[in-house]
Amino acid sequence: MATQSREFPPEIIKILKSSQRVAVLTGAGISAESGVPTFREAQTGLWSSFDPAELATPQAFHQNPKLVWEWYTWRRELISRAQPNPGHYALVEMETIFPEFTLITQNVDGLHRLAGSQATIELHGDISRTRCSFENQIISDWPETDEIPPHCPHCGELLRPDVVWFGESLPAEPLEAAFQAASSCQVFLSIGTSTLVEPAASLPFAALRNEAAIIEINPQETPLTPLASYSSHHPAGEVLPELVSKMKR
Ligand code: OAD
Repeated sequence: MATQSREFPPEIIKILKSSQRVAVLTGAGISAESGVPTFREAQTGLWSSFDPAELATPQAFHQNPKLVWEWYTWRRELISRAQPNPGHYALVEMETIFPEFTLITQNVDGLHRLAGSQATIELHGDISRTRCSFENQIISDWPETDEIPPHCPHCGELLRPDVVWFGESLPAEPLEAAFQAASSCQVFLSIGTSTLVEPAASLPFAALRNEAAIIEINPQETPLTPLASYSSHHPAGEVLPELVSKMKR
């Protein structure tokens, strides 16, 4: 494949400059340059023999809550060392350029919020938050204990990470808000996602049905690539800052 220029075509810049309503969907790829392994990359160290899809499930937590809790402790520790990268910061700037800007993420690493994005829609929750597995309310602290996982200080049931597991439904309000934004935007940017996991993967197609321009940023092709107005096959941390600087000219 001929190497694609990192520059966005002038007509794409023109569409963005003439738009008021922009929606963005990000996936693990936007955090790759922060050193957070994408969801499908091989797990390292003692977790290398585990398949995330088998750990991030209610069944796994029911069968072996200690193992699942320890896996999330390991991931939280990994993510706590990560910092936002230029791609995250470019989206913070983008928020100030468009009158209506909605950032929707599948990531649970909290890096968009850490970078300064306001009102991010977190479809899959946030790994740094903990909730009661029975009452579902967020629990921010609990008495020191050797028990793994710890128990809810209110009802005594097990605590769990506040993330969406395979087979679980997404939080209704954020999902509704995400489809609302996707269905009414003029430009939809899909950044760093394999566009494989529903219902997030349907968001760009909802934008397409509303005749929005679709811009994809992903070094790999995805099911969305053939339908995108433009697909940049470069790392988000490299091309997003350039795109934003073009918007400000
Ligand atoms: P994936 O790991 O499926 O896809 C990450 C995408 O990012 C891939 O298509 C990569 O090509 C691309 N990528 C890698 N580095 C990049 C970079 N520097 N810039 C831009 N793109 C880059 O992760 P997601 O699509 O986010 O759900 O996965 C979606 C969901 O699947 C996850 O949220 C998780 C998983 O099931 C839950 O945990 C519920």
